[in-house]
Amino acid sequence: MYQDRIRMARLRDKVMSAQDAATFFNDGMTVGMSGFTRAGDCKAVPLALADRARQEPLQITLMTGASLGNDTDKVLAEANAISRRLPFQVDATLRRKINAGEVMFLDQHLSETVEQLRSGQLAPIDIAVIEATAITETGAIVPTTSVGNSASFAILAKKVIVEINLKMPTQLEGLHDIFIPTYRPHRQPIPLISPEQRIGVPYIAIDPSKIVAIVITEKADSPSNVLPPDGETQAIAGHLDEFLRSEVKAGRLSPALQPLQSGIGTISNAVLHGLIDSPFKDLKMYSEVLQDSSIELLDSGRMTFASASSITLSKAKYEHVLKHINDYKSRLVLRPQEISNHPEVIRRLGLITINTALEVDLYGNINSTHVGGTHMMNGIGGSGDFARNAHLSVFVTKSIAKNGAISSVVPMVSHVDHTEHDVDIIVTEHGLADLRGLAPRERAVTIIRNCADPHYRGALQDYFSTACRLGGHTPHVLHEAFAWHTRYQESGRMLG
Ligand code: COA
Repeated sequence: MYQDRIRMARLRDKVMSAQDAATFFNDGMTVGMSGFTRAGDCKAVPLALADRARQEPLQITLMTGASLGNDTDKVLAEANAISRRLPFQVDATLRRKINAGEVMFLDQHLSETVEQLRSGQLAPIDIAVIEATAITETGAIVPTTSVGNSASFAILAKKVIVEINLKMPTQLEGLHDIFIPTYRPHRQPIPLISPEQRIGVPYIAIDPSKIVAIVITEKADSPSNVLPPDGETQAIAGHLDEFLRSEVKAGRLSPALQPLQSGIGTISNAVLHGLIDSPFKDLKMYSEVLQDSSIELLDSGRMTFASASSITLSKAKYEHVLKHINDYKSRLVLRPQEISNHPEVIRRLGLITINTALEVDLYGNINSTHVGGTHMMNGIGGSGDFARNAHLSVFVTKSIAKNGAISSVVPMVSHVDHTEHDVDIIVTEHGLADLRGLAPRERAVTIIRNCADPHYRGALQDYFSTACRLGGHTPHVLHEAFAWHTRYQESGRMLG
């Protein structure tokens, strides 16, 4: 009964079809939609918007928390409904349009989008479309499996459309902790000093008169598409596990480590999964996404609490967690992404952050976003928020890509997302480079020896030796620095 989920009775009149709700949009509008790494995204209104865009000129600027599920970005992109997109995406069709210059994409630190919105540095939101479990007696919105940017979108938008998803258990209420920082220039400290602390309220409080439409849906989130751990990702996990054990032995970390953050994707998931058989205990997460491995760590008892902005799981794990959400609720909290990713909180809590690189260079600079230096993959996501402010900033990658045609360790990265200053540890399946306290020339030696694939080590060493003869604090042979990338473009292999 959807009526029970709209507890402010007068709002029940606003229930309508997605097609009717889509008539609120005009060409050129800025729209903020819920959704973070496939979780808690709107399921019906975006599709109705795409239907309209197929029949008449209708293009929007689309902001979300992060990536959407249910092929929403694909459907909107194919309907030519998106002119600008921010702050993150993972869809192949949209990616093609971005790389063809047909969609203007703003690749942003995930903590920053709503700061820029509320200070007027981005165009204001005309309509927010937010997936909800329920609307409370006071007209506040109870989110579903993500918070992302939903709270600030709804607070800042002129109009709000709510999608109530009957598939989401009502017991999700109470899982969220919505805290909005005080506005600048009178910003107060964010009073969060441990991952399990709650500092806000469990709903998004807005003026209910802004709710112009309520659409009822009944569709699950898209399952995550991470692959199970393989030999290489297990090797990466093993090296990191060994390193963390040695840090505990040396007294630099306790057996509870520090709160953990782990990025999206197959490699990060595998690394976290590897901790299940570790000797660490009472682990906590302060991350932006909880993947299957986070739930497995909670189930194993090795982790006692996890804070994030979304829950993105495989189908079986998703169904299990939603069915037993009451059992998990005391060990989970979902926050706005500007809080899960807030530099102030990350630095205070002292996180161990684990993010994935596409390529790393001899000195520890990281490219996480641009294939070949030009083509957008997904976006920086939260990796910059976390890496810059971490207690220990770890980057993981397989040492080669495309069956060995590409080395992930290159002389100079073709695009920089994380500078050498934000990177403490690099891990590949071959080993771990501990860059702490090392100068650039020392870093290069360690990265080549420990992380590069043996097939590429000699060529990297030759490059580095020639560069050292030319001199410099960070030696390079500038006219050869991108030769590996151009050779790959021309011949399909980085080395002949
Ligand atoms: N050059 C070109 N392509 C490369 C590459 C390189 N140096 N390294 C990897 N790839 C390709 C892989 O071949 C694979 O291609 P495919 O999809 O066609 O098979 C793809 O990149 C993904 O690589 P994979 O090894 O499967 O890793 P992943 O699923 O863990 O994703 C990132 C890796 C970097 C794309 C992903 O982690 C990301 O988008 N990170 C940036 C955002 C982020 O870190 N967020 C963290 C906070 S959530």
